[in-house]
Amino acid sequence: MGKITINDIIKKKEDGQKITMLTAYDYPFAKIVDEAGIDGILVGDSLAMVVQGLENTLPVTMDEMIYHTKIVSRATENAMVIGDMPFMSYQKSVEDAIWNAGRFIKEGRAQAVKIEGGFEVADRVDAIVKSEIPVMAHIGLTPQAIHRIGGYKVQGKTDESKKILMEQALRLEEAGAFSLVLEAVPAELAEEITSRLYIPTIGIGAGPGCDGQILVLHDVIGLFDRFVPKFVKKYANLKDDALKAVKQYISEVKKGVFPSEKESFK
Ligand code: KIV
Repeated sequence: MGKITINDIIKKKEDGQKITMLTAYDYPFAKIVDEAGIDGILVGDSLAMVVQGLENTLPVTMDEMIYHTKIVSRATENAMVIGDMPFMSYQKSVEDAIWNAGRFIKEGRAQAVKIEGGFEVADRVDAIVKSEIPVMAHIGLTPQAIHRIGGYKVQGKTDESKKILMEQALRLEEAGAFSLVLEAVPAELAEEITSRLYIPTIGIGAGPGCDGQILVLHDVIGLFDRFVPKFVKKYANLKDDALKAVKQYISEVKKGVFPSEKESFK
């Protein structure tokens, strides 16, 4: 089949086919997600919360993101791998943004990067794209702006903020983004933005009118239960299964049931 490219992603919108994306952060899960036939894997900075156990996404570093992106790329045969630019890897300067985006491609073996923000990052998107690196933009609820926003809140509820989100979407498309993540925005607004853009929108808490959907894998498979946002649908309960398995192992070792003859050498 070969690797999915940005052309395939854009063509899916043109053909009216839904685009599927999930996050992954390590080899075994990236392999499962890829084997299942996903279009894109985002090595999200959400790994700070669901893998590193941190309170928010702000502390994760470039080196840590590269480490996980390398592993995910190694596991992936078909899906497009997108590296998520962490907090302070692009805010300071356009030069920083180009350099760090380049690290995701050169060291992480990703095919694209994602960058959070609206008008203020349009020049970064433009410069990264001009350096031959495809960029996925991300507006609405942008978790790196958590302290400004004051919580994980739905964005674009007032007429003024709706107008700003629409203008940001158009500006980021103009800057050269190949797709746009819309996070936690009203479904009607997401549908309107989707219909105005040539590039595909990928929704997370943005309703069914987007061209594609993305979720955090650990939410989808029930591995992260510190909090579950309203927009998440859990398709499995791996934490419960793992807990059951580990408890049974402990009990069998204590009782002398494991190892049995079957697991022993003669
Ligand atoms: O970091 C992340 O996982 C994201 C999402 C869009 C899922 O940014």
